[in-house]
Amino acid sequence: MNALLDSGERLDRDELEALQLERLRAALRHAYENVGFYRAAFDKAGVHPDDCRALADLSRFPFTVKADLRDNYPFGMFAVPEDRVRRLHASSGTTGRPTVVGYTDRDLDTWADVVARSIRAAGGRPGHKVHVAYGYGLFTGGLGAHYGAERLGCTVVPASGGMTARQVRLIQDFRPEIIMITPSYMLTLLDEFERQGVDPRSTSLKVGIFGAEPWTEQMRREIEERFAIDAVDIYGLSEVMGPGVAQECAETKDGLHIWEDHFYPEVVDPFTGEVLPEGERGELVFTSLTKEAMPVIRYRTRDLTRLLPGTARAFRRMEKVTGRSDDMVILRGVNLFPTQVEEIVLRTPGMAPHFQLLLTRRGRLDALTVRAEARSGTTPGERRAAELSIVAAVKDGVGVSVDAEIVDPGTLERSVGKIKRIVDMREAL
Ligand code: DLL
Repeated sequence: MNALLDSGERLDRDELEALQLERLRAALRHAYENVGFYRAAFDKAGVHPDDCRALADLSRFPFTVKADLRDNYPFGMFAVPEDRVRRLHASSGTTGRPTVVGYTDRDLDTWADVVARSIRAAGGRPGHKVHVAYGYGLFTGGLGAHYGAERLGCTVVPASGGMTARQVRLIQDFRPEIIMITPSYMLTLLDEFERQGVDPRSTSLKVGIFGAEPWTEQMRREIEERFAIDAVDIYGLSEVMGPGVAQECAETKDGLHIWEDHFYPEVVDPFTGEVLPEGERGELVFTSLTKEAMPVIRYRTRDLTRLLPGTARAFRRMEKVTGRSDDMVILRGVNLFPTQVEEIVLRTPGMAPHFQLLLTRRGRLDALTVRAEARSGTTPGERRAAELSIVAAVKDGVGVSVDAEIVDPGTLERSVGKIKRIVDMREAL
């Protein structure tokens, strides 16, 4: 057994499941006794925390969705008196009210522990310098990464997002081994390294811990190659905690180990809500096992993935998230995710790793244009070939006709945080 692992990571499957059941029963009781919303929801569904005698009994309890958090804005989902809430975060929410989450002292402690564990699984060690380029503020990325890196014994560079020229200078001067950043913002840094005439392969960086948005194996290869680093995936969401719910291990890079001693996962059929067996794709659902300030019971993430058995750890893995049900485009009856297009664009010769999906309406039908950026130096002939190749690959791989438009290098807007791939022009037309 790896001597670096913490006590939670050393549990075998039986010990872990026994701990989960004990914690789950306490979490259900805590939610029922202290949050009016859960009491009403459990009563309505005819279930009581005492009905949970085995882990599988969780499926009898009702789901929680994002709208429930919005309806109870701002503090209605909290299970502790306000003076025990030590920190608030909020997710922006494109429409209406944001969703607010709260943490007690113990919750912040747990969060730092799971992020420290994540950074260690990614290859981080005490004494490493960690450049945090996730945004600081109400977003959980920056501060979540920050306290986790400190907990592990690293030196943190709290760069936050933006001021891209300065990010490159800081990396040159402070020589961090690790960077925590969204994959799309890493590509923006790549442009900036090149603009400043610095070889991105020559930096001190060894590991990138990328998350907060979906990204593909093709993107991993692009980033690893261009920066000469190992790129691993970190997953999380504010409602459940923030970054550090699951983490890919550097030694296997085979999906993300869910820190199941704190966050209990289920994958359900997104339409019927039925729990799916391990290995089947569906919507990821989480129940917090140890959270005090804002417990969540069967929270529907809308993220699509599947559960897999553990490898580098006893914890189960989740496959890299292929997309959110919210980001799915339904085009003439065919489901399409931006990640499917990402795989195609990145393997098309002459294409830079930048693209957008433009949704328009032609007559009564929706139409989609893949707008992708050429690498510099591509000839008009190569661009035309790329256009045809993208259209053919989407038709073949996804099963739907789209248009493609190749634009000049540097044309598409660059990300400084989470990227927005879909530009919906249907209302505007
Ligand atoms: O994005 C927390 C986070 C920060 C995770 C930094 C990782 C790194 P929210 O803003 O609440 O929290 O957004 C959560 O982002 O439901 C997913 O749809 C998406 N997401 C997060 N990590 C990944 C990932 C943070 N590794 C939502 N792969 C989630 C794919 C991800 N999608």
